[in-house]
Amino acid sequence: MTEKHAISVVVLAAGKGTRMKSNLAKVLHPVAGKPMLHHVLDTAKQVKAEHIHVVYGHGAETVLNASKSYQVQWHLQEEQLGTGHAVNQAIPVISDENVVLVLYGDVPLLKAETLETLLALVNSNQMAVLTVNLTDPTGYGRIIRNDSGQACAIVEHKEATKEQQKIREVNTGIMAVPAKNLKAWLNKLDNRNAQGEFYLTDIIAMAVADDFGIATHITDDELEVEGVNDRVQQAKLERHYQYLQATSLMKQGVTLLDPNRLDIRGSLTCGHDVVIDVNVIIEGEVTLGDGVYLGANTIVRDSKIAQNSRIEANCVIEKSVIGESATIGPFARLRPQTHLSKNVHVGNFVEIKKSFLAENTKAGHLSYLGDANIGKNVNIGAGTITCNYDGANKHLTTIEDGVFVGSDTQLIAPVTIGKNATIAAGTTVTSDVSENKLVISRVKQKQLSNWKKPTKKSL
Ligand code: UD1
Ligand code: CA
Repeated sequence: MTEKHAISVVVLAAGKGTRMKSNLAKVLHPVAGKPMLHHVLDTAKQVKAEHIHVVYGHGAETVLNASKSYQVQWHLQEEQLGTGHAVNQAIPVISDENVVLVLYGDVPLLKAETLETLLALVNSNQMAVLTVNLTDPTGYGRIIRNDSGQACAIVEHKEATKEQQKIREVNTGIMAVPAKNLKAWLNKLDNRNAQGEFYLTDIIAMAVADDFGIATHITDDELEVEGVNDRVQQAKLERHYQYLQATSLMKQGVTLLDPNRLDIRGSLTCGHDVVIDVNVIIEGEVTLGDGVYLGANTIVRDSKIAQNSRIEANCVIEKSVIGESATIGPFARLRPQTHLSKNVHVGNFVEIKKSFLAENTKAGHLSYLGDANIGKNVNIGAGTITCNYDGANKHLTTIEDGVFVGSDTQLIAPVTIGKNATIAAGTTVTSDVSENKLVISRVKQKQLSNWKKPTKKSL
């Protein structure tokens, strides 16, 4: 932009999305775990708009509720009478001095740099349209250019002549227009056309008639401007988005055993030499330190894993913090508020919730540790259970440094096991154990010599 105009973004998001065949409003359908509308709003935020306006309609209540964290102005379009009518819902509150940037709520992969390029073409005598060349332009508005190559109209597919239908350059729907002029042209729109709609695209011919310049920016990335109309397109954009994320990770130095089998629904921050095996799912905010290995089929959600830790296959890790050089799994489940220090080992079929395990502590097999505070160098035997719940309340188990917990131990919380104590296998611990003591609760073993094995009765 040669002159500095404030930007008002108008996101069109009222459409029904009939072809999604869904009860959920189309713009709330996710790509990489995030509603498409929120992708668009996050991109809009990057262009430093003065205000962001959203024109909404279908699924009004759910769209508003899902988007509470966004600072936007909402404009209800009760009936969807066309893109021109949609922009008209927001235009009364937009200052004449601003430039209006029109975006679609169902075009999730649009890049902020592309918008910057488009906005740079706008001035008080010129608007800008984002276009793309498609191999199959069926259904789209065609860009009509005059003999000198200047864009002079957009003709919708249904209005286009046979000749015009051959044009492969189409309107992406994204455009930037000085508000003052846009207002004047919107006032003149009518719906005398094949679809009985108020077409925003009709303003192009009006602008030309007013000697107003029409600049175009042709993007060479079809997927960036592709809108989602059905679940096939949604899946296509999902794959493309995942491919872009995987590519960027590999360029940062992360090894992906198969870039097509990693799904990131949120953000993943990696140190050097991280290795990620196949079918891993990352959700929310995840940080992996240098040299971390994630085994196949592992799911990590909102967690931090420090350097050189290995997560073997088939683990589920949620809202947890794992220290350096820990070894987890295969088949471990770390639930929220699990905090493991360095060199901790958690083996197969171990579930941990809201617990702290200090350095070098091991829980190798088949255990449940909940609401537990466990010291250093503790050995948790197979089949250990912290009985943290009495049916009404949760209670804490404290295990001090150096304790040896034998296999098949139940710890009835609240309970404290003192330093270096040993709990014999099969013990049910019901009260506190002092330091260095051995505790055992077991029925004495008997051997019956007159016992006979039952035999099967013949009928
Ligand atoms: C529109 C353009 C067409 C362009 C195509 C790109 C017009 C007249 N046509 O066509 O030139 O090639 O997009 O995809 O502008 N919407 C509302 N309220 C309405 C109507 C639409 O909010 O009353 C929203 C929809 O939810 C959607 C967007 O505007 O996000 C585009 O509407 P859609 O009906 O898909 O436009 P097309 O007919 O595909
Ligand atoms: Ca569309």
